[in-house]
Amino acid sequence: MSNGPRDIAEIPDIPDWNRLLDGRVAVVTGGGDGIGGAIAELFAAHGAAVEVAEIDPDRAERISRDVSAAGGVIRSHVVDVTIDDDVARLADAVLTEHGRVDVLVNNVGDYRPLVAFDESTPQSWQRMYDINLRHVFAVTRAFVSAMVGAGSGNIVNVHSVEGMRGFPRDPVYGAMKAAVAHFTTCLAVDLGRHGIRVNGIGTDLTQTPQVDYLTGYEDVEHLWESWAPVGRVGWPQDQARVALFLASELSGFVTGHNIPVDGGTKAGGGWLFSPRAGRFVNRSKHL
Ligand SMILES: NC(=O)c1ccc[n+]([C@@H]2O[C@H](COP(=O)([O-])OP(=O)(O)OC[C@H]3O[C@@H](n4cnc5c(N)ncnc54)[C@H](O)[C@@H]3O)[C@@H](O)[C@H]2O)c1
Repeated sequence: MSNGPRDIAEIPDIPDWNRLLDGRVAVVTGGGDGIGGAIAELFAAHGAAVEVAEIDPDRAERISRDVSAAGGVIRSHVVDVTIDDDVARLADAVLTEHGRVDVLVNNVGDYRPLVAFDESTPQSWQRMYDINLRHVFAVTRAFVSAMVGAGSGNIVNVHSVEGMRGFPRDPVYGAMKAAVAHFTTCLAVDLGRHGIRVNGIGTDLTQTPQVDYLTGYEDVEHLWESWAPVGRVGWPQDQARVALFLASELSGFVTGHNIPVDGGTKAGGGWLFSPRAGRFVNRSKHL
């Protein structure tokens, strides 16, 4: 633990802007496809040794094959991060191989099935907790001691814009994502003096296997300018680029923050662009 840099020369150098994670060991949960898959690919392209935790054996195998073919360093572990024994097996494999972990991306999460609160049950609450929040605690706990011991580390939690605004379709899902966002903030304050930064990404509108924003919407594509201020669907790579920023020294003075990566939906709040009116409106009769 140090008192921190007092001199500009003590700010870590960025020797190669094309290899922002050169030599780092990065664990990505749900790294077989979707946002996690794009993060695994981009981190490997930037020189990280990527350790993917993926429940689906086919996805685990495919990401390893693709990243290796592109010249990246990667291993996939077929694990279910909601099972503590699997998390222990993952941590053991990573720490035995490398003796350390530099970056952890907690990315696993799922909104399905959405349950209206007046129809929800203890079982549906438990399901939302298990798949969106509990494993963030478990996986972080499994790696944080190694980071504290090393005096450095970086954690990126992928949650949702629905944890940063009111989500009426399933308030329990929204609450779990909000908990991940606030865990991010609290842990950042706790661990900053150990050289560990913790930040989050509030995702929205991103085309993945879990959320298909394109199929069935072909006749209303012109409405994207209503759905997102930037006027387009998001791609997993949009999320991965922000994760790279947060995981690298580019954001060396940033911790405890949750960045909406949402094409502007959070910023827009209740304001929707109406193509018919040709302006932003906040009441549906103008749409
Ligand atoms: N896509 C969006 O627009 C969107 C919006 C809001 C929030 N999110 C959040 O972003 C994150 C990634 O979402 P996505 O759309 O890429 O999801 P996805 O379902 O397309 O991909 C998730 C990956 O995680 C794997 N996985 C699922 N459960 C697992 C488990 N228990 N253990 C290990 N691996 C597991 C899946 O097999 C898959 O490869 C999630 O936390 C999700 O809630 C996404």
